[in-house]
Amino acid sequence: MTQEKLVRRIAVYPGSFDPITNGHLDIIKRGIRIFDEIIILVAYNPSKSSLFTVEERVTMIEETIMDIEGVRVDSYSGLLVDYLKKTGASIILRGMRAVSDFEYEFQMALMNRRQSREVETVFLMSGFKWFYTGSQIIKQVASIGGSVKGLLPAKVHRKLLAKFNNGRK
Ligand code: PNS
Repeated sequence: MTQEKLVRRIAVYPGSFDPITNGHLDIIKRGIRIFDEIIILVAYNPSKSSLFTVEERVTMIEETIMDIEGVRVDSYSGLLVDYLKKTGASIILRGMRAVSDFEYEFQMALMNRRQSREVETVFLMSGFKWFYTGSQIIKQVASIGGSVKGLLPAKVHRKLLAKFNNGRK
């Protein structure tokens, strides 16, 4: 076996995950066929306000990925590249949906690379079923009583509905 094969390929999959969706899960399941280990990182996005706390998001992810070997979850409130340095990882994994994601993703990938030349961002194209869905629109629809069944893992779906039902009481 060559030296290269002995090096574990660890990818960090960062995001808000507010909450984790079936689209995220699809990226994780496909990603682990490429990488030896994936760390799902609940990271801080100052441009978004979140519905779930970091702890709630981590718990939902843990419940969702418990049967997938090689995948674990963590949270971090600092710079993504600092987290990568801390863990010895050099790959950022992101899902890319419609063209509308491209500029945002490109900007982040270039900025992360500017912060650290060691870092590479690898994109997986979103599965076609999840192309036009995401946490934001799912929350919006659920908050006004629309159905989002099938877009989230079942447990996460229940927790999302509970959030909004509690809010209405
Ligand atoms: O799911 P999101 O909200 O699109 O994910 C964005 C996220 C959390 C990956 C991004 O905001 C991030 O990396 N936050 C950590 C802080 C940081 O390093 N920001 C600079 C990114 S170029």
